[in-house]
Amino acid sequence: MSKTIGIINGSLRKNSFSGSIADYVKNNAPEGYAFKIIDIGKLPLYNQDYDGEDLNEYTVFRNEVKNLDAVLFITPEHNRSIPAALKNALDIGSRPYGENVWSGKPGAVISQSPGGIGGFGANHHLRQVLAFLNVLTLAQPEAYIGSFHTLIDENGEINNEGTKEFLNGFLAAFAAWIEKLS
Ligand code: FNR
Repeated sequence: MSKTIGIINGSLRKNSFSGSIADYVKNNAPEGYAFKIIDIGKLPLYNQDYDGEDLNEYTVFRNEVKNLDAVLFITPEHNRSIPAALKNALDIGSRPYGENVWSGKPGAVISQSPGGIGGFGANHHLRQVLAFLNVLTLAQPEAYIGSFHTLIDENGEINNEGTKEFLNGFLAAFAAWIEKLS
């Protein structure tokens, strides 16, 4: 049976660059793996008052994450950090206290930007949060994909061969990391 890796896209934008990477990843899954997009766009803002209540959107999301074998985060950088929607999803999954659904999951991070440093700030802020949430995050290879707008065609599909090769190698390393932790 194949293992399911959740993809969490930090961008809510239609036709997002992160979504272009997600599409490539979904269509190029390593053997024995399937990718599933986990939508974070409709999650209400995290409020601790809801911890005691069974807020449906939170419960559905937490259960979706619980059922994953691993999580791949693909994100843009917002003001040198992660987008608020992504932090919101991480916080929702981390609570109620003692019921952190991220804990123990193998994880990996890809950041992208039209800029030259490929979302380095977001990538490392995310790694900091994931360390606390006990996500077992792939250390190498790192993935900071810069000048992203030059790597896609008019339909948003990645058309740069070097980028495709890099992503294939990244996915192979992530699959090996998941196997090592299994
Ligand atoms: C940005 N952008 C951006 N880019 C960057 O390299 N560093 C940054 O700090 C920021 N900050 C920032 C803040 C806000 C509020 C927005 C809306 C945008 C640009 C942005 O990250 C870039 O356009 C992404 O590549 C878009 O990715 P998606 O949303 O298409 O996946």
